[in-house]
Amino acid sequence: MTAVNVKLQFRGYDLASVQVDLRESWRIGPVEIPTRLVLAPMAGVSVQAFRRQGRRFGAGLVCSEMVSCAGLSHGNERSLGYLRIAADEHPLAVQIFGSKPGIMAEAARMVEDAGADLVDVNFGCPVRKVTKTGAGATLLEEPDRACAIVEAVAEAVAVPVSVKMRRGLHNGSRTCLEIGPKLVEAGAASLTLHPRSARQMYTGEADHRLTAELVELVDVPVVASGDIVSRAKAQTVLATTGAEAVMVGRAAQGNPWALRQIMGDEAEPSREEVAAELILFIRETVRELGEHRATGFLKKFYGWYLGRGRFPRPFKQELVQLATLEEVEQRLLAAAPGARFVLERLEDELPQGDEVLLDLPISIYGGG
Ligand SMILES: Cc1cc2nc3c(=O)[nH]c(=O)nc-3n(C[C@H](O)[C@H](O)[C@H](O)COP(=O)(O)O)c2cc1C
Repeated sequence: MTAVNVKLQFRGYDLASVQVDLRESWRIGPVEIPTRLVLAPMAGVSVQAFRRQGRRFGAGLVCSEMVSCAGLSHGNERSLGYLRIAADEHPLAVQIFGSKPGIMAEAARMVEDAGADLVDVNFGCPVRKVTKTGAGATLLEEPDRACAIVEAVAEAVAVPVSVKMRRGLHNGSRTCLEIGPKLVEAGAASLTLHPRSARQMYTGEADHRLTAELVELVDVPVVASGDIVSRAKAQTVLATTGAEAVMVGRAAQGNPWALRQIMGDEAEPSREEVAAELILFIRETVRELGEHRATGFLKKFYGWYLGRGRFPRPFKQELVQLATLEEVEQRLLAAAPGARFVLERLEDELPQGDEVLLDLPISIYGGG
């Protein structure tokens, strides 16, 4: 019997008819995570509105997009803005990237002070702008430096430190299996694996056979990331890898209902629900980024929300071309008048005012 099977048996699953309970809680160190569904960190997507929405739709853990350590260290307003944490996001990981252990440790302390439950370290970003600085996925080829980073970060903070990585730099690489146990020894309390190479970017398939191998090699929770798009896929990956949780990224872009479906509620949203969620998302994003930045940021979300046959295609084009977000809201409400009532209910249910206030003085936030 493999260690994966032992782990599954230990969890009480009958492998012949495995149905992993996504509603079961699990832990990273002392942090209890209420479901086995994690919302992926995505640069340009994982704003606070996205994370809060993810929690409402069933994610047990949400994560900020990657934040530059150098940016935090220099007091860059936009980087500091990523440390904005709302009361209803917990448990939440803030992800940092960089290449220098000391600066990473300093950034981790800021992340902890901002109220994050976990510090996540990025060893997976394949984008040249990041890798050319020695950060992201390149660190997979520099195990000593990667371990020094994890060690420095784990020493700097009391909260658990997790690492997110790819399989390696090159196609077919198995580097993650060599470096994974070393990172755990250096202090990582959890590993997330997106088993594509950096070179692959998002092409091909995530090879979760590697996830299963990693699970066998380490005694910390492993989170499986990559191509989790349905409840069936989530169940299969959990059952066949022994991963503690699945992480969902692209499937949840403009589609929080994917999270609800993975958790077991198959209902398709009504047009009113879609329009109301989008309007709420717009309002929250304006509050977070300011109107100017939010206007550009939101354009990609219109297609994500309104596609999938939910609204006619020209409608999306129309929204993208409107000059103000006020007009976008009006057009959505005209197309789905009942959305007004759904929106009222949603806003009533959200924590208001001080409850969403942050642990840092407001002047620190990037805003617009
Ligand atoms: C637009 C976009 C931005 C991403 N940004 C990050 C990031 O900041 N940090 C990170 O660790 N992974 C990032 N990823 C990778 C995802 O977290 C995830 O591992 C990957 O998309 C595979 O999961 P999926 O198939 O569910 O999308 C990003 C992915 C996308 C599509």
